[in-house]
Amino acid sequence: MTELLEPRAMGRDLVRRDGVRKVRGTATYAFETPVESPAFCHPLQATVARGRITAVDTTAAEALDGVLAVVTHENAERLASTDDAELAVLQSPEVAFRGQPIGVVVAETSELARQAADLVRVTYDEQPHDSVLSADRGDLYAPEKVNPGYDTDTVQGDVDAELAASAVRVEQTYATAMVHNNPLEPHASTALWDAADGGKLTLWDSTQGVHPDRKAVCSLFGLDLERVQVVCPYVGGGFGSKGTPHANVVLVAMAARALPGRAVKLALTRQQMFTMAGYRTPTIQRMQLGADRDGRIRALALDVVEQTSRIKEFAEQTGVPARMMYTAAARRTTHRLAALDVPVPSWFRAPGECPGMFGPEVAMDELAHALGMDPVELRIRNEPDRDPETGQPWSSRHLVECLREGAERFGWAGRDPRPGVRREDGWLVGTGMASSVYPTMRQAQSTATVRFEDGRYVVEIGAADLGTGAWTVLPQIAADALDADVDDVEVRIGDTRYPIASVAGGSSGTNTWGSAIVEAARQFRGKFGRRPEDGDEAQGSVDQAATDDEHATYAFGAQFVEARVHADTGEVRVPRLLGVFACGRIVNPRTARSQFIGGMTMGLSMALHENSAWDARIGQVANHDLAEYHVTVNADVGDVQAHWIDEHDPYVNAMGIKGIGEIGIVGTAAAVVNAVFHATGVRVRHLPVTLDKIL
Ligand code: MOS
Repeated sequence: MTELLEPRAMGRDLVRRDGVRKVRGTATYAFETPVESPAFCHPLQATVARGRITAVDTTAAEALDGVLAVVTHENAERLASTDDAELAVLQSPEVAFRGQPIGVVVAETSELARQAADLVRVTYDEQPHDSVLSADRGDLYAPEKVNPGYDTDTVQGDVDAELAASAVRVEQTYATAMVHNNPLEPHASTALWDAADGGKLTLWDSTQGVHPDRKAVCSLFGLDLERVQVVCPYVGGGFGSKGTPHANVVLVAMAARALPGRAVKLALTRQQMFTMAGYRTPTIQRMQLGADRDGRIRALALDVVEQTSRIKEFAEQTGVPARMMYTAAARRTTHRLAALDVPVPSWFRAPGECPGMFGPEVAMDELAHALGMDPVELRIRNEPDRDPETGQPWSSRHLVECLREGAERFGWAGRDPRPGVRREDGWLVGTGMASSVYPTMRQAQSTATVRFEDGRYVVEIGAADLGTGAWTVLPQIAADALDADVDDVEVRIGDTRYPIASVAGGSSGTNTWGSAIVEAARQFRGKFGRRPEDGDEAQGSVDQAATDDEHATYAFGAQFVEARVHADTGEVRVPRLLGVFACGRIVNPRTARSQFIGGMTMGLSMALHENSAWDARIGQVANHDLAEYHVTVNADVGDVQAHWIDEHDPYVNAMGIKGIGEIGIVGTAAAVVNAVFHATGVRVRHLPVTLDKIL
């Protein structure tokens, strides 16, 4: 148990500290960093899906006036570490996927760099490629662990026996699409290599973590930490794709080192983001649910098939939430991967939980329908009083309260369960719901400094704000930890010259950095009391991943959806999307609401639109731009509401907070599918819900 901080600044609806700068255009993003006469990079990309480069002719490119360098595997510097094959670019002539970077052109302007890139002639020894995922491939394998270290498979009890003894069974296969992170700001950097005194790299990079970014760059180039500074005060979105560095970072650093003293800039084009910035694997989810007539689950099995690239494994932990969400007498979860000639998948908002709550939450709806039971009631009936996986008590679990409050606010009571019977002006109308969950995580290492300067407190921590609100909520936490006025607290983030901080990922940022700030404030008050003098300074750190290892710590929520499907065209609209969440204390209602609503909107996008259409003939995403890769827009949704319940959790951290960045997307797509079923009687089990699947 932790004694929770008294919330004074926490809980207040403060406006974003970076908001005005961002909307007025005075916030400088990585690519816009003002530097003297920058040069511009354009990546060269492989045009075959598998093979080996046999020749590169750069003559025409280099003959262009204004071209400064053409770096390929033939002349690129040898990296100190090639362990990560996604990042070990230009080290060999091998090609592992179409679009893999095979070079970088540097020129006086970005237009010239791009033109010169087109003039580079590359010949290949092309090999047949294999890039189509299916559940019946003979080469599926079990990874050692799934992201970020969970067991690959779990078994409790005898699933087959419990299934056989069940009065009602649902056995279905669900699938989620390959989807690509598309933050507004593409992956972009400015880099400057100063060769004096053994060299120093300054990297302004759009990243979810300046310190992890620096560590990766140092290891790749064999540089000591103090020889690299990563700066990133503002980020235009990331959704996980900027949580780890991708090949563009290596290319820009290589280009900078090839041109000492000259700043170079590289921004991926939107199309390049479909090959270099990571993506969510498609998933195939075989679900088995068996229950008694009264709705009690006897058997729950989820067998997941997904893809990774042949050169680097990323195993999305899709089976993980099914391990703890509901009671079951017997349970099984498995993950199998196919390693294909495809780009490298990575984090995409709520890796694991997001796709992993799709199949199970649609299956729960199918089970409720088969039982003739209300889907909210079915979930309440299978509410576990302890974590079914570990047997640990919950630090707090208020899913039932979220379900009840959501049902109340949405007007669920009295719902006619029959599908396909409500019609208004040619539109079929239905409602659906699903549960959501996200683990409350803290990272292992972060440090904050508190200093008294000119009569106010300055807090420094190398954290990141990818649009989530860290600029605003960290001062609120610091103010309460110092028992100071929030206006007297300045927090500085986004630079490796501030103390080490973990990645803004896994919804763990505010928890981790906030905990370090609370500790630093304690140290500060302990050393200097309540009347500090200018220059007084103290540090505090968190070095353990969890505050409490005796409890299962999760945030919960429930989403409710009204769907309208046009009876003639199959067009889907969502007039209402409502979520209720239990995420501990809410530090700032304004930024929190944006996170929940943003997550739910992304879930709606996953439900209705997002689909990276794979062209297996050539091995690439066919719709690789925002004209054809559709994301949800305002016209797709009417009223979006996020609510939360007051939740007191004394086990998670001194702030009493849980992560909120990812839970909004979790469950939403299932709720949409369930509402579309209720509207039409058609159960779409393969995302996205496009009209051809309904008609
Ligand atoms: Mo989130 S996908 O862990 O940045």
